[in-house]
Amino acid sequence: MVGMTNDLANTATTPVSVLGLGAMGQALAAAFLRAGHPTTVWNRTPGKDGELTARGAVRATTAQEAVKAAELVVICVVDYAAARAIMETVAGELPGRLLVNLTSDTPERARAAADWAQQHGIECLNGSIMVPVPVIGSPEALFFYSGPRAVYDKYETALKALGGRPAHVGEDHGLAAVYDMALLDYFYGAMGGLVHAFALAGADGVRAGDLAPYLDTITAIMPPIVAGTAQDIDAGHYPGEAANLAMMAAGSGHVLETAEHRGLDVGVLRSVKALADRAVARGHGADSWASIFEVLHKP
Ligand SMILES: NC(=O)c1ccc[n+]([C@@H]2O[C@H](COP(=O)([O-])OP(=O)(O)OC[C@H]3O[C@@H](n4cnc5c(N)ncnc54)[C@H](OP(=O)(O)O)[C@@H]3O)[C@@H](O)[C@H]2O)c1
Repeated sequence: MVGMTNDLANTATTPVSVLGLGAMGQALAAAFLRAGHPTTVWNRTPGKDGELTARGAVRATTAQEAVKAAELVVICVVDYAAARAIMETVAGELPGRLLVNLTSDTPERARAAADWAQQHGIECLNGSIMVPVPVIGSPEALFFYSGPRAVYDKYETALKALGGRPAHVGEDHGLAAVYDMALLDYFYGAMGGLVHAFALAGADGVRAGDLAPYLDTITAIMPPIVAGTAQDIDAGHYPGEAANLAMMAAGSGHVLETAEHRGLDVGVLRSVKALADRAVARGHGADSWASIFEVLHKP
């Protein structure tokens, strides 16, 4: 069908199936329904499709039945091992349709799944969902896709039912997961730091709610820092006139010492300080914080 449905793929009536009805799979199916796509749903464990069928989704009792009903098959389950378990049961039905795997996992597993699909004559895109459930289907919902550009272009309109900010990041099937992991790297670093900051202040009796209003200041300076750091890294040049690494290594040391003194876990802080010290030792003291990029790769 991928080859046969050029004209239909980008219309509002692409028949879709969603395999996997966890919190995210249900949100995806609901978004397809809202956009007017005939939607079939299936989940390993029955009983999760009540709201969807009430809104017009068709319940499939097997994954095979769901795949046969659709031109565009979306799979969204806990990880690629689960996705693969399902894919193997429908390998015979998938050729001629487009499989879009929106399961989050490592780039290596995404590439292995795409290789498996290719060996079975299955056209596929790999995707990563970058927003939580309530944002699915909205204009600001960011999705990364990787795989053949022409296939993505053909289905872009249908996929926009899920999120108004789709980004095709390359033909290499692992790239959507690379972008996903990189964004999550940033996210989890920030999340670890956030709770640690509350613990540090809390050790001296400061309530989280008293600190929280001031954290905005840090959040607000991040967008220009992100852009500037990217520019420095791409240029391989790290001007540090405004804020140099030696000064920031000392600053991170003060946070480390404060946290240690209060008996907090300092594993992350110690690693950050060690990175900064290593870059200073390599001659980057007068450069910007971005220069720690040069010491991140293990020798
Ligand atoms: N929720 C979010 O906010 C969010 C945001 C971005 C990305 N994601 C990604 O979306 C994906 C799904 O997340 P979710 O929130 O929907 O997770 P979830 O609510 O925990 O649902 C997990 C789904 O995986 C299925 N599953 C697990 N093991 C399976 C197996 N061996 N065979 C078949 N099905 C299996 C479950 O089926 P059963 O019902 O039968 O157990 C269920 O449909 C994940 O990759 C996640 O990282 C989620």
